Amino acid sequence: MKLVVPRETRADERRVALVPESCKKLIEAGYTVAIEIGAGEAAHFPDDAYRAVGVTVESDPAALLGSADFVLKVNAPAVGGAAGRNEVDWMRPGALYLGSLMPLRNLDAVRALAARRVTAFATDAIPRTTRAQSMDTLSSMNSIIGYRGVLLAASALHKYFPMLMTAAGMVPAAKVFVIGAAVAGLQAIATARRLGANVTATDVRPEVKEQIESVGGKYVGIELSESASAGGGYAKELSEADKQRQRELLAERCAVVDVVITTALIGGVFAPRLVTRDIVRRMRPGAVIVDLAADGGGNCELSRPGETVMEHGVTILAPLNVASGMPTHASVLFSRNLTNFVQAFTKDKTFQLDLDDEIQQGALITRDGQVVHERTKEALQAAGSGGARAEPQA
Ligand code: NAI
Repeated sequence: MKLVVPRETRADERRVALVPESCKKLIEAGYTVAIEIGAGEAAHFPDDAYRAVGVTVESDPAALLGSADFVLKVNAPAVGGAAGRNEVDWMRPGALYLGSLMPLRNLDAVRALAARRVTAFATDAIPRTTRAQSMDTLSSMNSIIGYRGVLLAASALHKYFPMLMTAAGMVPAAKVFVIGAAVAGLQAIATARRLGANVTATDVRPEVKEQIESVGGKYVGIELSESASAGGGYAKELSEADKQRQRELLAERCAVVDVVITTALIGGVFAPRLVTRDIVRRMRPGAVIVDLAADGGGNCELSRPGETVMEHGVTILAPLNVASGMPTHASVLFSRNLTNFVQAFTKDKTFQLDLDDEIQQGALITRDGQVVHERTKEALQAAGSGGARAEPQA
């Protein structure tokens, strides 16, 4: 069975889906592996490192994809001539795809995969269970995002993070406030603590209080009148009354800190607008916001995804594709996640479809010409009936 890794085509992408150490394991498991020339270069894995473990390096992406039984990618395949490629049209009907498809954000790619009769798995739809943890690219990447977000904040802040006793006197520790405390938020808290900052954090799922404390943060939150838990550890939108009360809490906290790091997502996909212009206006001059939810639209009303802006004396960073900024380790971890997925279902040197398995079932987006993933189907219907943006279901 031939596994194929094309070059990523998104302009800001530096990761690669498989690194040489994983290719070696998959070859030992009985697969043949081919990559597109230069696929790992931006992550510092040269073609020769792949050749050294038995990978074939090919230069024609159309021929490469056309020869694949199983395509492994970081991002959704390029469709509609993006970057001069029609990757789905180049794939064979019946081929498999595995990658961070983000189906709700990439409906065109989902439509194309279904039309081409590709069996597509999205790693971001893998259930968040103990058994699936080693395959969970969202966790690996969100952890990098939280870590890098703090480094970006520390570089943009015109102050020290740690408290320092110097010959010229003492400087106090920076105050950091983290909004949203799942994988990215918890890593941001831990990283800011390691740099010596004084960290508070909030979330709408009260069960995270202990997790915040376990990584050295102090929890702040409001008592919700309605639970914001959507199941599976995901949050849903707050009621209007709770939104208003949360806004007051956020305004109060943001006004007294040096750095705000936001990571809040609804259903793991879309970013609620939490930090309003008014909240920013009341922040300290020189404060920094790092909006780590920019890929989902941003948690701050003044964020411009992909840009850094200065508003009311506050620097607002809204970086996109943050994990790609640390491409070597991001690729190593992503690649291990994909390899664990493939190996878990390998028998007789072949990947076995097992749609009774809860991991495959959860991750499966298209099959036999159909979109089979419920939330994606709903999003497609909403988009088809003129909905500008399909909100995920609870
Ligand atoms: P995410 O990126 O979907 O969400 C980020 C955070 O934003 C969530 O904690 C959410 O409650 C919070 N949020 C939403 N609206 C908010 C608001 N208005 N104000 C403040 N915070 C708000 O989260 P991620 O990292 O994808 O994790 C999702 C869940 O999966 C978590 O519960 C996590 O613990 C769980 N998980 C479980 C794993 C396993 O069991 N294998 C592995 C990884 C994560």
